[in-house]
Amino acid sequence: MGIRIVGTGSYLPEKVLTNKDLEKIVDTSDEWIVSRTGIRERRICSDKQAASDLGIKAAQRALEDANVKVEDIDLLIVATITPDMFFPSTACIIQTKLGIKGAAIFDLNAACAGFIYSLSTAQQFLQMETYKTALVIATETLSKITDWEDRNTCVLLGDGAGAAVLKKEKGDSGILSCYLDADGQYGDLLNMPAGGSRLPATVDTVKNRLHYLKMKGNETFRIGVPEMVNSVKRGLEGCGLKIEDVTLLIPHQANIRIIKAIAKRLSISIDKVFVNIDKCANTSAATVPIALDQANRQGRIKQGDIIELVAFGAGFTWGSCVIKW
Ligand code: ACO
Repeated sequence: MGIRIVGTGSYLPEKVLTNKDLEKIVDTSDEWIVSRTGIRERRICSDKQAASDLGIKAAQRALEDANVKVEDIDLLIVATITPDMFFPSTACIIQTKLGIKGAAIFDLNAACAGFIYSLSTAQQFLQMETYKTALVIATETLSKITDWEDRNTCVLLGDGAGAAVLKKEKGDSGILSCYLDADGQYGDLLNMPAGGSRLPATVDTVKNRLHYLKMKGNETFRIGVPEMVNSVKRGLEGCGLKIEDVTLLIPHQANIRIIKAIAKRLSISIDKVFVNIDKCANTSAATVPIALDQANRQGRIKQGDIIELVAFGAGFTWGSCVIKW
């Protein structure tokens, strides 16, 4: 039996924030942002939208694409670093609104690698007799934890959600291998310092702007590139394939320079790498499933194709997933 992705969906909020708009907010330029990151615009959710709202829309599209009913879902995993609140989980909030019953439901925090970690987790569940259909969502409202006074980070981030429905089916297609890894010693390079039990919210934490995403971009870049290259190779090793076998590589969208560096080091043509960072920016866990859904709907994925997903993010966490479509 194969664990197959039988449907994908995504949702991007309506509001578009361009680089020109950002020029009015911080000391930056369209030229700097495009040349250093490849980003031209990003989507921003409304004040009323939380992560669950975006996730529900992506999930509904994935369920429709898969022709699967909510009654059939027996596992729901939501990858996010911007949950609606600490608890209950965003997964439970989505469960109620979608009407899912009798399922295992939880959030998973692996930052930008969250969708890959969630797919791998769903694969393990579906290998058990009792689980047959899984819904995996990655949803982020990074604009809510963005410091709009920090030009180092605010130009990089966006909001959005992606989802996939997985089923156990006969045949040799489906997830061929997953590779996961992490190294917590780098936690300080990319984090949101306050709001947890280490630094609960106080007047001072708010004054000191500690409830926002902080990143040492240079060091993250330096570690991210080799770990993503290694992840792609380890994923392929796990199923006995080579880079030449990959029809489409879908990497985390953090920076076009990172994506190009990975493609070069792997000797894979950039034409075989999916890129949407110009329009969507970095939506953390949601980048990979949004890109997967766009590739799927654009007809860039055909039955039998070998797709590899790869991501790297806070933690640091990283990993890859090889899929025969
Ligand atoms: N506009 C204009 N100038 C800027 C801006 C901006 N928006 N941001 C920074 N600069 C300036 C800096 O202040 C610095 O100026 P200085 O030399 O006078 O000090 C100069 O530009 C160069 O800054 P660097 O940080 O060295 O720029 P770099 O080329 O490294 O690009 C970037 C920065 C885009 C952040 C890059 O390092 C990067 O993409 N890093 C990796 C991000 C990533 O992979 N994140 C992973 C996951 S994200 C997540 O988990 C949510």
